[in-house]
Amino acid sequence: MGNSHETSGSENWFFKSLEIRRRPLSSSEALLTGLKHGIMELRYPSFLPFSLLRNEAKLHTFGTTFLDSDNGPDSSLLCRELKWLVEDTIEDHSVLSQMSIENGKRSVRLRAGVEDLYNMWKQRIEERKPFQYIVGCEHWRDLVLSVQEGVLIPRPETELIVDLVADVVSENEDLREGLWADLGTGSGALAVGIGRILGSRGMVIATDLNPIALSVAAFNLQRYGLQDIIELRQGSWFEPLKDVEGNIAGIVSNPPYIPSDNISGLQAEVCRHEPKLALDGGLTGMDYLFHLCNGAASMLKPGGLFIFETNGEQQCKCLIKYLESDLRGSFCNVDIVSDFAGIQRFLIGFRQQQT
Ligand SMILES: C[S@@+](CC[C@H](N)C(=O)[O-])C[C@H]1O[C@@H](n2cnc3c(N)ncnc32)[C@H](O)[C@@H]1O
Repeated sequence: MGNSHETSGSENWFFKSLEIRRRPLSSSEALLTGLKHGIMELRYPSFLPFSLLRNEAKLHTFGTTFLDSDNGPDSSLLCRELKWLVEDTIEDHSVLSQMSIENGKRSVRLRAGVEDLYNMWKQRIEERKPFQYIVGCEHWRDLVLSVQEGVLIPRPETELIVDLVADVVSENEDLREGLWADLGTGSGALAVGIGRILGSRGMVIATDLNPIALSVAAFNLQRYGLQDIIELRQGSWFEPLKDVEGNIAGIVSNPPYIPSDNISGLQAEVCRHEPKLALDGGLTGMDYLFHLCNGAASMLKPGGLFIFETNGEQQCKCLIKYLESDLRGSFCNVDIVSDFAGIQRFLIGFRQQQT
């Protein structure tokens, strides 16, 4: 795009159609004033608080650099995120379709101050802060989950666990009406997804060691009106579940499974900002996966289901060997399930029925 404003393509509508007239106000004043007086004024061409990002070549450089250095976000993702950020800030989305350079004097009401927006995007680029922490939410399945720094951003591959649970309970009334556990619940993604499937006939206990995660999970389950179905408990893995030992119909977990030495090599968004407690699975990444398998052998009721997420094929195969040797006779119908990318991601199995 260079320095010209004569660009085309809806992807970059932001650069070509919005110029923001700066007011001599702090960002919070700008927000308040904007709301009080009904509008923030946007017009073309005037002041450019997003000058850092006006130049597509620069954005391309950021994206290329991030991609090359640590497989970080590429330019097209950054452009999309910026578009979402600005769109989300505009209160009345219907104005977007009417905006063009020709009618650039149209007034638009914003939900956040211009300085705030600028600082948010600066954090995205300069600190590599994940976009989800900037906007405070992540779209996951059909949910919009609140997230904040200190809590893992739920990943798309984990969504499949909810589908697997849905499949099993659709054919097994006993499991549908039983008690479920989501261990290491983080934002509460799995607990909320499963709670919605079970409905009022089931019950989920969601645990985490991290109090920030539990407070975010509490917000999310309230948002979806699941306070009566999901109970939050703080503690390490099975420790807060002693009172229900042997009575759990299903256990799901996406535990930390990254080998400790690999964490510093992850993309900056992850290793600098996401909680190490949510990532670090010990030397081989399998410390907690072994612990979960051991616990499931006594915590599940006979016929109960477990689904654990792993790092991939190697961890899955290693766990299968472990179940066949150290936990021989505890489980049946153990299987590996691949994620949408074809990576062998989940270990699934049932506690052996008593003979
Ligand atoms: C990979 S994150 C998964 C979060 C969430 N279930 C998801 O899929 O988005 C792992 C979670 O396990 C939690 N965790 C780590 N160590 C734990 C422990 N000893 N006991 C319980 N939870 C733990 C972390 O705080 C984190 O929320």
